[in-house]
Amino acid sequence: MPALLDLHGRPLRNLRVSVTDRCNLRCAYCMPEEEYRWLPREDVLRFGELSAIVDAFCLLGVDKVRITGGEPLLRRELERFVEQLARRPALKDLALTTNGLLLAQQAPALAAAGLHRVTVSLDTLREPVFEQLTRRKGLADVLAGIDAAARHWPGRVKLDTVVMRGVNDGEIDALLEFARERGVELRYIEYMDVGGATQWSMEQVVPRAELLERLAQRFGPIEPLHEDSSAPAERFRLSDGTLFGVIASTTAPFCGKCDRSRLTADGTWYLCLYARLGLNLKALLRGGTSTEEIAERIRTVWSGRSDRGAEERLAERERGPLLDAQMLRDDPRLEMHTRGG
Ligand code: GTP
Ligand code: 5AD
Ligand code: SF4
Repeated sequence: MPALLDLHGRPLRNLRVSVTDRCNLRCAYCMPEEEYRWLPREDVLRFGELSAIVDAFCLLGVDKVRITGGEPLLRRELERFVEQLARRPALKDLALTTNGLLLAQQAPALAAAGLHRVTVSLDTLREPVFEQLTRRKGLADVLAGIDAAARHWPGRVKLDTVVMRGVNDGEIDALLEFARERGVELRYIEYMDVGGATQWSMEQVVPRAELLERLAQRFGPIEPLHEDSSAPAERFRLSDGTLFGVIASTTAPFCGKCDRSRLTADGTWYLCLYARLGLNLKALLRGGTSTEEIAERIRTVWSGRSDRGAEERLAERERGPLLDAQMLRDDPRLEMHTRGG
């Protein structure tokens, strides 16, 4: 079957599946508000329903699935879902993004269920900063989670660090040293003005250029790898061989190479991270539509895709938060934590 391409020639390969919109942290860049409106419980798809939707995507060429949240480890018996997906020969890559709090407990079951790799969010190594940034305690648990991940998925663990000026940018060196000691790959992420980041301002973004300059002062020459991939991270190498990535979605978006889309826990399918509207696949599924027919609907939408959300944001002159808190309360699916990043 010829690859399904959108209007910019981008293939549909990568699906991010959110299994819950709940989270046990309140990161300043993602969930800064006091209260949230959650997806109604009865709307959250069961694992069998999510798997059926994943099957429709696999028919169209999706071969990478990343399980996301909210915090996906809050979803009970997540390993059952992993097991269902791991059985699909079409899936070459099955990954999970987690904040790590519950990972030490769950890593053995997830690895046994067939999860290929894990990405853990780690923004600081200091407990007071962790508490300020996430409004919860638990850095020690996150660190234990990272160690457990490194044992269960050797060579296949990444760390994601959102860099915020004045919050954790003093730790960029220490975080890279931490990752290097454990043999895991750290990726610095520019703070993004996505739905949910209601406190965002350009002043708090540390652009890739500045980040690299600061790292070079500490670690010496940095070599860019110039890899040709659809992944958002560009990779770099220190002279001792240490690899790290930078995801510069705010100052240097990669929309032209985007092959991803996202499914919320209530079965709404969004293309761009910045998209306002999604397709209600739950309604199709619960209405009895077959997997093949759902795939046809997805094909039609992807064929007509032309969005380049992050690039459009870059072109804006007065850049502030994408959406205000009231708009997010009106439609919680606009939240980054609902669509899983
Ligand atoms: P790999 O396959 O390991 O490279 O995964 P990934 O980089 O897709 O996964 P991860 O969930 O770790 O993504 C890292 C971060 O990149 C996300 O949390 C977002 O901040 C950002 N990101 C992911 N997808 C997109 C996207 O479509 N557009 C933009 N602008 N940023 C994205
Ligand atoms: N900017 C950049 N990344 C974000 N994430 C959530 N909100 C933002 C934001 N405003 C990403 C981080 C986090 C993951 C779960 O979602 O990478 O680690
Ligand atoms: Fe933080 Fe992830 Fe929870 Fe958002 S979903 S508040 S980034 S841990």
